[in-house]
Amino acid sequence: MMRKLLKIILVLLVLALLAFAGFIGYVVTFLPNIPLEKVEIEYTHDRIKRGEYLVKNVAQCLDCHSEREWSKFSGPLKPGTEGKGGEKFDQKAGFPGSYTAPNITPHHLKDWSDAELLRAITSGVSRDGRPLFPIMPYPNYGKMDREDIYAIISYIRSLPSIESTTPPAKSDFPMSIIIHGIPSKPSFVAKPSRSDKVAYGGYLANASVCAECHTKTNRGQIIEELMYSGGRFVDSGNGAVQSANITPDKETGIGAWSEKDFIARFKAFDKNSGNYEDDSVKPGDFNSPMPWQAYAGMSDEDLAAIYAYLMTVKPIQNKVPKQSSVPKKQ
Ligand code: HEC
Ligand code: HEC
Repeated sequence: MMRKLLKIILVLLVLALLAFAGFIGYVVTFLPNIPLEKVEIEYTHDRIKRGEYLVKNVAQCLDCHSEREWSKFSGPLKPGTEGKGGEKFDQKAGFPGSYTAPNITPHHLKDWSDAELLRAITSGVSRDGRPLFPIMPYPNYGKMDREDIYAIISYIRSLPSIESTTPPAKSDFPMSIIIHGIPSKPSFVAKPSRSDKVAYGGYLANASVCAECHTKTNRGQIIEELMYSGGRFVDSGNGAVQSANITPDKETGIGAWSEKDFIARFKAFDKNSGNYEDDSVKPGDFNSPMPWQAYAGMSDEDLAAIYAYLMTVKPIQNKVPKQSSVPKKQ
């Protein structure tokens, strides 16, 4: 009797193990399963222009997919490396693998179809079906207006080609399994009207991935209840620094800032205005990973909309040690 019971338990165990192995096998073999859309994009002048703005100043594609000069404040792009690939996110910075942003100039993307690019940018599936690690913010880009993504694709197609190859991505176990389940179909939205300042600002805040640095995470997932309350450690090329609380809390956030203060803080880093020149940063000095210079190219109207949106998020009291992100020469 006893032996029979043991035998049954053993058989059940083996079956459970087989089912589990089968499940893992299924996940790794058949996921992600995101079909390609039938699209061909017309690279019109308007799209390229809009795309340039989104890529350089809003969505920060170049910020990751180029080399940055960490000897200067906020790591501006190294001229001549635009889109060449470069920023590396690995175990040293707390990632479950090693991911280098690939070359997104025609050198690497010339054989990709528009459909393949659309899928990679908004669903996180590479050309060969490989899942991308979501440090590439495809979950955000999948919530943009399809037209804006077409503009982004039109512009990156026009980048000067740079010959350069980056090391392939590698996920550690168990991320090597989990990652197959992360890509998902995009849920495009219609861009809110500019007259609806708060909704339009929310759209831009998503596209410019502010929450990704300004919210603490739990196992790599943003903690929704702590949205925008800062305190997350972000690698700055000069050691990790904590992001600021940008909720409207009056004491510990930016609730006491006026719209003018907010815009001015960004515009203080605007090189095109002629008011800002790179501040050099010595090893060990405070540096910021926030691409201030890139965001500084956003229009006053767009920055004002982001401000209006941030003023509507839940104020959270969270005191983050204060660092200075004000240009030295002011
Ligand atoms: C926060 C950094 C970051 C930002 C911002 C970012 N990317 Fe990426 N991107 C990456 C990384 C890292 C990878 C590689 C991920 C992997 O292989 O798992 C990647 C992968 C890609 C790929 C797939 C390339 C391939 O060979 O599989 C494309 C295409 C791409 N990014 C385009 C863009 C575009 C366009 C934007 C802006 C709309 C953008 N990225 C913004 C970091 C970023
Ligand atoms: C790559 C990470 C990163 C991204 C992306 C990012 N930030 Fe930041 N941000 C930081 C860090 C770190 C600090 C603190 C150091 C500093 O002031 O530069 C900061 C500081 C700030 C401050 C200054 C607050 C103060 O009290 O002085 C504001 C305002 C701000 N961020 C707004 C934004 C907005 C709006 C966005 C999106 C458009 C954004 N940030 C995107 C990392 C980031």
